[in-house]
Amino acid sequence: MALDKNDVLAALGKVLGPDGRPLAAAGNLSDIVVADGKVFFSITVDAAAVRQWEEVRARAEAAVRAIPGVKLAMIALTAERAGAAAGAAAAPAPRRPPTAGGGARPHEGGGHAGPAGIPGVAAIIAVASGKGGVGKSTVAVNLALGLRDLGLKVGILDADIYGPSLPKLLAIRERPQTVGGTRLKPIERHGMAVMSIGFLVEEETPMIWRGPMVMSAITQMLREVEWGALDVLVVDMPPGTGDAQLTMAQQVPLKGAVIVSTPQDLALIDARRGIAMFRRVNVPVLGIVENMSTFICPHCGTRSDIFGHGGARHEAERLGVPFLGEVPLAIDIREKSDAGSPVVVAAPEGPHAQAFRDIAARVRDGLKVEGRPAPKIVIEA
Ligand SMILES: Nc1ncnc2c1ncn2[C@@H]1O[C@H](COP(=O)(O)OP(=O)(O)OP(=O)(O)O)[C@@H](O)[C@H]1O
Ligand SMILES: [Mg+2]
Repeated sequence: MALDKNDVLAALGKVLGPDGRPLAAAGNLSDIVVADGKVFFSITVDAAAVRQWEEVRARAEAAVRAIPGVKLAMIALTAERAGAAAGAAAAPAPRRPPTAGGGARPHEGGGHAGPAGIPGVAAIIAVASGKGGVGKSTVAVNLALGLRDLGLKVGILDADIYGPSLPKLLAIRERPQTVGGTRLKPIERHGMAVMSIGFLVEEETPMIWRGPMVMSAITQMLREVEWGALDVLVVDMPPGTGDAQLTMAQQVPLKGAVIVSTPQDLALIDARRGIAMFRRVNVPVLGIVENMSTFICPHCGTRSDIFGHGGARHEAERLGVPFLGEVPLAIDIREKSDAGSPVVVAAPEGPHAQAFRDIAARVRDGLKVEGRPAPKIVIEA
């Protein structure tokens, strides 16, 4: 029998919220979307009580995953905005002063006075997010393909050395060849030059990296690879804004950064951190992409805003960075990615491919913009 919302509610019956009430009765669940064995919903919580709720969220996800027939469960916490019904609890967190470096950039529109570029590569851009699992790799690969469709010569580097995604996303199993003994040739796929640490290690090898090794691995993949002449090299960054990412943002000669966020407030807080990080190292933020925006049911076409909708656009306006576009939460995008054929290649005529091409066009235009003022940014702790 087909899985439905009631099965999910029944499974949630045993999951209690921080106040001891069953989650299913707490009244803070969004629509529960069940499609093709996949379950998505969000829990709206007070921003002040996120820690307690994170644990509940994880238990709820585990309970839903345990339902026979569930292939995937994705549950997100959404914080209420200040001024909303339970406004007081969601009052803005204390603000820190604007980040140093947020106001001035030495080389407007021309990247930053950081490390030397890669010969032959006109622009390197990072696709990043403060938080994991928001769809950076999916966006990076489809954005790269969108740029290719605009006639640019494109490369893509998987800098997520902890959990490389490109071998799977692009169904690449072969190993790169060496040229002249030490340099590596990137793998060609869909007209793009592709490199990932995942091409060099066995899939099952746990990747444990200590501080300096991270930089040397990234440096090698950037500088000891025969990228050839590229208009754009898209770098899929690992999640987070820790020291490793900061160092990477500093060491890679970036011309700009694309920040991926889901529409929910909590992910946006992380997105803000990501933006602040790039500004700290004087890398222009090319804009924000709202991923997993509106969900469109593949069967009935109904739209539901599971993780909220428009949050990233609003945030981009507030921070004064371009809004690059939204990508819906679509089973199709996930399935195509899982099958190693990104949606821009698998369904080039479809609306999702078009969304990525539109984003790509804005990124390309953003790379050309000279002297864009650098708005100040405030990070909420
Ligand atoms: N718009 C979308 N619609 C449906 N599924 C999506 C969408 N974007 C991403 N996904 C799916 O969500 C999962 C996480 O995406 P992805 O690996 O791109 O995220 P990530 O931010 O790179 O994760 P990590 O932080 O682990 O690197 C994948 O299974 C992917 O197929
Ligand atoms: Mg990734």
